[in-house]
Amino acid sequence: MRPRRAAILREMGLTPLWRLRAAVDPDPDPGGLCAPPPAETPRREAAAGRIAGFPEAAIPEAAPSPDVPRPGPAFPANTASLPAGMATELPAARCVPDVATLDWQALEEAIRACRGCALCEQRTQAVPGVGDRSAPWMFVGEGPGVEEDRRGEPFVGPAGRLLDNMLAALGLRRGDGVYIANAVKCRPPRNRTPEAAEIAVCLPFLDRQIALVRPRLLVALGRPAAQALLGREIAIAAARGKRFERDGVAVVVTYHPAYLLRNPLDKGKAWEDLCFARRLMAAGED
Ligand code: URA
Repeated sequence: MRPRRAAILREMGLTPLWRLRAAVDPDPDPGGLCAPPPAETPRREAAAGRIAGFPEAAIPEAAPSPDVPRPGPAFPANTASLPAGMATELPAARCVPDVATLDWQALEEAIRACRGCALCEQRTQAVPGVGDRSAPWMFVGEGPGVEEDRRGEPFVGPAGRLLDNMLAALGLRRGDGVYIANAVKCRPPRNRTPEAAEIAVCLPFLDRQIALVRPRLLVALGRPAAQALLGREIAIAAARGKRFERDGVAVVVTYHPAYLLRNPLDKGKAWEDLCFARRLMAAGED
């Protein structure tokens, strides 16, 4: 690391920058196409596989907080077919309005007023999205946690602090070059994984957000987000390092920050995924 950068990170309380990895990585990576470590990574340590990646002294390593979502039930195959199918199972009053032509203000109003599924019943407020509305990068998470539900902004709890560090490592910050949204806009009770039907009902909102932002690259954070974006069953370990596409927009899949808080040894893999995404961006392959 360059001395100036080291000094800045030290000053910001973000050191130590690197973490030791376990000798044996329990999670095989069949994707295996990840980038080499970033330029400033010390080669000796990288060769030893000991770099975990993000500036993280600011990230609590303590037990996960209550707003950290836990793995939930499996997502049914072929999500793409769900919106139409689900709509027929929902009472008419529960179907979300046609949002495909709304501008930002009308869209956010529609999200806040939505009663399209049972998640609306326990929310404090819906959480539309945040950031640069003409950003090249768009990150998509799973759904609001307790803190997001309280504040009305995505990723403001512990997972959000890690996401901010991930963005900073890419030279991004919320509101500048990146837009952040969730697959579902209302907090699932007890932070459970949103159900396929809930994601399907909420999908038109995400579709419209993507259409308005027109990002060059979408980053799916975790399995529900990946499945919402790609409309099919996804296993993160197998999908990492691959370029997917959604309506002509490149999609990259990585771990959810809340998962990384519980499994810090995988932060290095997430950093590899972000480097892969950055290379796609730089190559204009999006
Ligand atoms: N986890 C998510 O997926 N989204 C948030 O906004 C917060 C935590």
